[in-house]
Amino acid sequence: MSNSVAPVLEAKNLVKTYGRVVAIDGADLQLFPGEILAVVGDNGAGKSTMIKCLSGAETPDGGVMELDGKPITFRRQKDSRDAGIETVYQTLAVSPALDIAANLYLGREIRKKGPLGSIFRMLDNSGMKKSAKEHITSLGIGTIQNMSQAVETLSGGQRQAVSVARAAAFGQKVIIMDEPTAALGVRESGQVLKLIQSLRERGLAVILISHNMPQVFEVADRIHIQRLGKRIAVVTPKSHTMNEVVAVMTGALTLEEKDQTLGPIR
Ligand SMILES: Nc1ncnc2c1ncn2[C@@H]1O[C@H](COP(=O)(O)OP(=O)(O)OP(=O)(O)O)[C@@H](O)[C@H]1O
Ligand SMILES: [Mg+2]
Repeated sequence: MSNSVAPVLEAKNLVKTYGRVVAIDGADLQLFPGEILAVVGDNGAGKSTMIKCLSGAETPDGGVMELDGKPITFRRQKDSRDAGIETVYQTLAVSPALDIAANLYLGREIRKKGPLGSIFRMLDNSGMKKSAKEHITSLGIGTIQNMSQAVETLSGGQRQAVSVARAAAFGQKVIIMDEPTAALGVRESGQVLKLIQSLRERGLAVILISHNMPQVFEVADRIHIQRLGKRIAVVTPKSHTMNEVVAVMTGALTLEEKDQTLGPIR
């Protein structure tokens, strides 16, 4: 990727504290169009907090965020969704009592055509179920049979699949996934990774937060390493090994020690 390409999403010097806990401490992030950026770091490194700021679930205490080069201030999650950013949260944000189709269309329900929808505000439930089924099927989660099933009755992995399907279905510019495969079996994880790659092919930019190094190395174009609330390095699966990434992540290896081949952080 040439340096002339501008980031689609950028954070500069983000700060977020919870009382005395500094969750992010001047973190930067750059996401370029059409790339998969993996974000890795130890537990508590501030990965989830950072993406919560980028998706409007949290308000940063300091720093700047830009979408397509323009400053953004998200006051609620809906603001980021309206701007084309879809997020799969680590603590899956689904409404357990609603069914799968309703969860998929939460906040963007489709109304019936004509006056039934425009005047009587009637929902096109069968249309939503049909397209929910298509999205879930395309994800290869064949174990979900019935789109009318309440999400609270789904397995953890199936819930995760619903969240991922929702993000993929509606993301216009950026898709952020915080540990999207943590609850998934091998086959389902593989499907989600394929889906992430297909999003990239569609020109979307994806942030993938993951502790699973083989998955990260399989799909990421670049790897953002977060430590103690800051981005401390950006590497690629070609420039570095898994062991090196883990060593940088945990503080066992510094950039200087590795030599200068880490290149500039961009
Ligand atoms: N709502 C909150 N109130 C208080 N402290 C919080 C809150 N959310 C996060 N923190 C703290 O901020 C720090 C960063 O948390 P965060 O969830 O961003 O880490 P993470 O990198 O996503 O970790 P993991 O890999 O375990 O998901 C942690 O020390 C955490 O305890
Ligand atoms: Mg997290």
